[in-house]
Amino acid sequence: MVKKRVAILISGRGSNMAALIEAAKVDDYPAEIALVVSNRADAAGLSRARDQGVATALVDHRNFGEDREAFERALDEILHANRIEIVCLAGFMRVLTPWFVGRWSGRLLNIHPALLPHFKGLDTHRRAIASGAKRHGATVHFVVAEIDAGPIIAQEAIDVRDDDTEAALAERVLEVEHRLYPRALREVAAGRTKLTASRADNG
Ligand code: GRF
Repeated sequence: MVKKRVAILISGRGSNMAALIEAAKVDDYPAEIALVVSNRADAAGLSRARDQGVATALVDHRNFGEDREAFERALDEILHANRIEIVCLAGFMRVLTPWFVGRWSGRLLNIHPALLPHFKGLDTHRRAIASGAKRHGATVHFVVAEIDAGPIIAQEAIDVRDDDTEAALAERVLEVEHRLYPRALREVAAGRTKLTASRADNG
């Protein structure tokens, strides 16, 4: 089996990244994690990736000022130089322009800590508790230009407990994320789930 070459983009601790690296060690996993890229030198995930023997790169967005596309062109060059076929965002805290999203359309995935289309954006766990929602969870989706709006690839829900705190809920959702993202990437890398005109097609 020829494994798809995957890059993971991070900005922080990289626990989802670590879950993907771990999953991809399995022989029959259809993807290999070829590169981890961070936009921040202090992202803890960078050393975590290196400890696992995964190549890393830094593209510091501050070097590009307000020019988002210049930042993304630098990113894109590194991805192409490494012959990357699929890009996974995992706690990557930069909004991507339509240019980059268009270039990677159908090959760009993100994980969001909520049951989309509910709770797009930040502070999802606090907002889920405040709303009185009984169910919450995580979503992996194809990235489109509109934030947190792309076709859903996989989703898993858990119960919100009456006495839940933001931290407790975040911890349980994170456990979900760590199994959901490897599952979703497996589907996409194996060619079983594709981005069609308007939805993630796993038929
Ligand atoms: C995760 O909750 C992910 O869903 C969100 O940002 C967080 C990143 O955590 N997009 P980590 O860096 O993967 O530990």
